[in-house]
Amino acid sequence: MRKTVEEHAARFTEQAASYDDDKRPEYHACCSLVVDHADPTPKDRLVDLGTGTGAIALALAPEAGNVVGRDISEGMLEQAVAKADKQGCENVEFGEGRFREPNVEGRVDIVTSNFALHHLDDDAKRAAIHTIADLEPRRFVLGDVMLFADADPDDPFYTPAVDDPATVGALADMFTDAGFALTAVERVHEQVGVLVGERVTVDREMTEDTSL
Ligand SMILES: C[S@@+](CC[C@H](N)C(=O)[O-])C[C@H]1O[C@@H](n2cnc3c(N)ncnc32)[C@H](O)[C@@H]1O
Repeated sequence: MRKTVEEHAARFTEQAASYDDDKRPEYHACCSLVVDHADPTPKDRLVDLGTGTGAIALALAPEAGNVVGRDISEGMLEQAVAKADKQGCENVEFGEGRFREPNVEGRVDIVTSNFALHHLDDDAKRAAIHTIADLEPRRFVLGDVMLFADADPDDPFYTPAVDDPATVGALADMFTDAGFALTAVERVHEQVGVLVGERVTVDREMTEDTSL
């Protein structure tokens, strides 16, 4: 990790008031894909990790049963709460939580995360994806800075001093190691993409049927 959790939290709190301004088209494309792939039903409880000012959580709230947004930055969470109030969103709850300790109790159907996991180094990403799998969602949708094979290291989409994106291959291994079947890989830019994992559940009756 290039910065500690506390340093990231302070950095985002400092920029929270202007965070939503002037985002690149790739960011908006990534958000749209995360929202489309998350595809919750009104029965679903959805958790958005690294929720920031709530871009994904608030976009999905009208479709989901309820939404939990978690982040480490007080300033970003304040913006998210203000936006939820303004939009009259009553089924969204924002609060402190981090990838390794999401601070979420109870059933979770879908987990999303957009442009946040790349702040962790690869070992921490792997552990975070295992923590997400332990929540037992049926689907995990990750939008993020990630390096496709042809990524140009001399033209980074990210800030190397603070960001630590993984290759798509490494992330794919992390998904499958944690028990997610990778069902979609969307390339938005050579350094930005969306991965979708569906949790593999084995039917007990099938495993008990010795004739198979
Ligand atoms: C670039 S912003 C993305 C915010 C939002 N998901 C979006 O799409 O606009 C990254 C967010 O990740 C949060 N973050 C960084 N490290 C985190 C961690 N370990 N656990 C939870 N959130 C984290 C930051 O506080 C920040 O709000």
